[in-house]
Amino acid sequence: MKSMSSDHTDDTRQLVEVDLGVRSYPIHIGTGLLRDAGLLRPHIRGRQVCVVSNDTVAPLYLDTVCQALAGFDTTQFIFPDGEEFKTLDTVSTLYDHLLGANFGRSATLIALGGGVVGDMVGFAAATYQRGIDFIQIPTTLLSQVDSSVGGKTGVNRPQGKNMVGAFYQPKCVLADCATLDTLPDRELKAGLAEVIKYGLINNREFLHWLDANLDSLLARDRQALAHAIRVSCEEKAAIVAMDEREGGIRAILNLGHTFGHAIETAMGYGNWLHGEAVATGMVMAAAYSQRQGLLSQADAEYVRTLIGRAGLPVIPPDTIDADTFISLMSRDKKADSGRIKLILLEQLGKAFVSATVETEDLAAFLAPGL
Ligand code: NAD
Ligand code: GLY
Repeated sequence: MKSMSSDHTDDTRQLVEVDLGVRSYPIHIGTGLLRDAGLLRPHIRGRQVCVVSNDTVAPLYLDTVCQALAGFDTTQFIFPDGEEFKTLDTVSTLYDHLLGANFGRSATLIALGGGVVGDMVGFAAATYQRGIDFIQIPTTLLSQVDSSVGGKTGVNRPQGKNMVGAFYQPKCVLADCATLDTLPDRELKAGLAEVIKYGLINNREFLHWLDANLDSLLARDRQALAHAIRVSCEEKAAIVAMDEREGGIRAILNLGHTFGHAIETAMGYGNWLHGEAVATGMVMAAAYSQRQGLLSQADAEYVRTLIGRAGLPVIPPDTIDADTFISLMSRDKKADSGRIKLILLEQLGKAFVSATVETEDLAAFLAPGL
């Protein structure tokens, strides 16, 4: 993983490389990148391109992307906005659109939107005619710092999130900070949860930078956002380069996610945003780390305070009882034959995978009033 500042005229411009041998790719970060045809074109092999987006993002940015694609045979596929549309049904409709347009194996899909669009387009690209190229243009903070990077693609099933999918890397990622101008506040904060995650799992210095610059990030200061996106992408790229298919260390990227996915599933997709559920999940993981004698009370409190200051929820819904939590957490993809694994913190800035979670102890931790 390398990174550098790549343009003198745009002082938010950054380049991070995901180092995966023949599957390596650049992440371009900056302002106004959607208009920069020169960033997109080198990553498109054939003539056929399909830009996939949803009915919220398309009216905002689709024309700009299509203008940058002048000269290609470009089609558009727009589906309704929402986590509930991250399904095999939507992917199936996309396959039919591509088949109807006679898309062949040199075609490229472009995902324009947040993590829902990116995860689904990546999965469609991985499977259409056994695999075609795709490019990520993430337009939420969460997708710019997390979901567009690292090649996890997939769709939800009623039994759980992202239960069907593939590891499949994009050809490039364009993270245009200017698209964050139109992002609702609640979504910005949800993205901050994943940014804070990188500080907690592997970069204490960044955690302190976030603590000091939280107000600038919440005020959408472009420089602060570009810095946060760059460091987040560097952290993720380094971990993915070590463990692309999550045989080990990559699992630490799931800090807070085992609790968080249980919250999302129990509450119904879309009621709690993914980032909100992860935020509360990270507070719970820190508290559980304290219970295990790993973190001090002050450190666990630091996590709760920082996440609360970011405007994110720090307490799980009281409608989810301990049994429901345990049942949903046992279905987590990290669980081994139903045995729950958690990402815990041995200190601020250092996470590890705990394979020794005792269900009874976890149930006691999750019981009301504790
Ligand atoms: P999202 O894709 O639902 O986007 C959030 C909302 O913002 C949507 O309403 C969307 O239409 C809207 N939006 C997007 N960009 C906008 C813009 N620039 N201006 C205005 N509105 C905009 O949610 P998300 O938080 O981006 O992603 C969550 C999804 O990502 C979940 O499905 C989660 O499972 C997945 N995810 C995947 C990974 C991975 O590694 N693949 C990692 C984290 C999360
Ligand atoms: N979002 C977790 C991962 O990409 O591994």
